[in-house]
Amino acid sequence: MAKEIQAELKSALGQARSILEDLERVGLGEVLPTGEDERLPVCNLDGSGNCRPETLEEIAADLGDCHRCNLSKERQNIVFGVGNPDAEIVFVGEGPGREEDLRGEPFVGEAGRLLDRIIQAMGFQRSDVYICNVVKCRPPRNRDPEAEEIAACEPFLQRQLAAIRPRVIVALGKFAAQTLLQSQTPISRLRGRWAEYHGIPLMPTFHPAYLLRTPSGKRDVWEDMKQVMKRVEED
Ligand code: URA
Ligand code: URA
Repeated sequence: MAKEIQAELKSALGQARSILEDLERVGLGEVLPTGEDERLPVCNLDGSGNCRPETLEEIAADLGDCHRCNLSKERQNIVFGVGNPDAEIVFVGEGPGREEDLRGEPFVGEAGRLLDRIIQAMGFQRSDVYICNVVKCRPPRNRDPEAEEIAACEPFLQRQLAAIRPRVIVALGKFAAQTLLQSQTPISRLRGRWAEYHGIPLMPTFHPAYLLRTPSGKRDVWEDMKQVMKRVEED
């Protein structure tokens, strides 16, 4: 009995596959689930056309044990990013600090704990969103990343954002906002106003490390996060 059912199932599956293959031959190939068709080109940030989203695992594998810039010399761990591959919100910081470098995870120090509280106040858990940085390796003594370090790393950030296709990017602090927007405008003027990163809405706000030094900025950040929540809830 079980054998008969197995045989029937096998034949039904075979027929289904041949129908899908016929449809593909006549140009209706998009009925096949994309993302499983490895022959399609990977999607870029606008996600348009016949493409499949790259997976974060593929991007991490391509990054490998990266030595594309000098930051690789002193780092302990690459800090790729963490969170939900289908996140609606991606938070982008500057670069790993000491604790992040030791653990290989972004925003796990004091500023990270404040970021977690901000995320929770927005009604999310850390695991609901995605968190990463402009550069994936710790700049020595937490100096600002240099132009060539950013240039080496940014293609991977772009690919992560194309893979996730969030509704909103939150740029945390002056460095992330100015880098992603290619702007020299002070963060105090950028924050709270919608901008775009390759077509994805981007909200610049203050960095949680700045809020630890200047708690009065929390009000502004909360205003900015309310705008983000509203955007994510739309339609
Ligand atoms: N500050 C950042 O910008 N990123 C981190 O991951 C931690 C602290
Ligand atoms: N200066 C920064 O570098 N970041 C902020 O968020 C605010 C001031």
